[in-house]
Amino acid sequence: MNTELFNLLKKYDVAGPRYTSYPTAPAWTADVTEVDYKNSLAALEDGDLLSLYLHIPFCENLCHFCGCMKMITTKHEVSAEYTLEIIKEIERVAALLNPNTQVNQLHFGGGSPNFLQPQELKKIVDTIRSLFKFTEDAEIAIEMHPRTSTKEFCDMVARLGFNRISLGLQDLDPKVQKLINRHQTFEMTRDMVELLRNLGLKSFNFDLIYGLPGQSLETWKKDIGSSHRTTS
Ligand SMILES: C[S@@+](CC[C@H](N)C(=O)[O-])C[C@H]1O[C@@H](n2cnc3c(N)ncnc32)[C@H](O)[C@@H]1O
Ligand code: SF4
Repeated sequence: MNTELFNLLKKYDVAGPRYTSYPTAPAWTADVTEVDYKNSLAALEDGDLLSLYLHIPFCENLCHFCGCMKMITTKHEVSAEYTLEIIKEIERVAALLNPNTQVNQLHFGGGSPNFLQPQELKKIVDTIRSLFKFTEDAEIAIEMHPRTSTKEFCDMVARLGFNRISLGLQDLDPKVQKLINRHQTFEMTRDMVELLRNLGLKSFNFDLIYGLPGQSLETWKKDIGSSHRTTS
């Protein structure tokens, strides 16, 4: 292994906080108050760039490995109320920020943001666009579960100007999938990528996990080969 790669592996071979929220959980000590939070938002200066993260916690099924903040339900009506609440929060935050800041990253994570109805996603994005300025090259990303994303949702994602899609893949081996309670064929993911590509989306990432029950070096090598096929 070359020295540069070895040093890179060494640098990142440390325990880190979960990356799915920012500031990460350890930043929120008991002495952080509402006033600190508001002051931090108000301290942003003209020209500062913003990264906005919105969390949509709902999923239809529980994957046994999942460490995300999620709520498992098939009752889709829950997202209507959540949409109203998240819009209120967007308005609260926007009111505290310097209006001369610009968003250069917007990310919808979860849970599975595709749990929302297409019109709910539109309402949220329209609210953000009406209250924040965006840089021309802003990255607008969304996490989606290939098994539960509908064509209507994909159409809306493309219409709203998303330009990066993050797809959960984890592992393609049916035996591993059974153990983790996540059933998702290669074809399901491939078809979704094709659909989104036909709608004009160009930037994709796939989440893979190693260390799951039933995995071996051999199954993992096959996974990497299949993921490569998906993206080629
Ligand atoms: C919110 S999910 C992605 C969207 C959708 N919910 C899905 O699963 O397809 C975020 C990603 O976090 C990763 N993840 C979840 N729990 C994890 C854990 N315990 N350790 C490492 N990665 C995890 C998975 O790879 C998952 O795709
Ligand atoms: S679908 Fe994604 S967020 Fe939901 S339980 Fe599975 S890994 Fe976690």
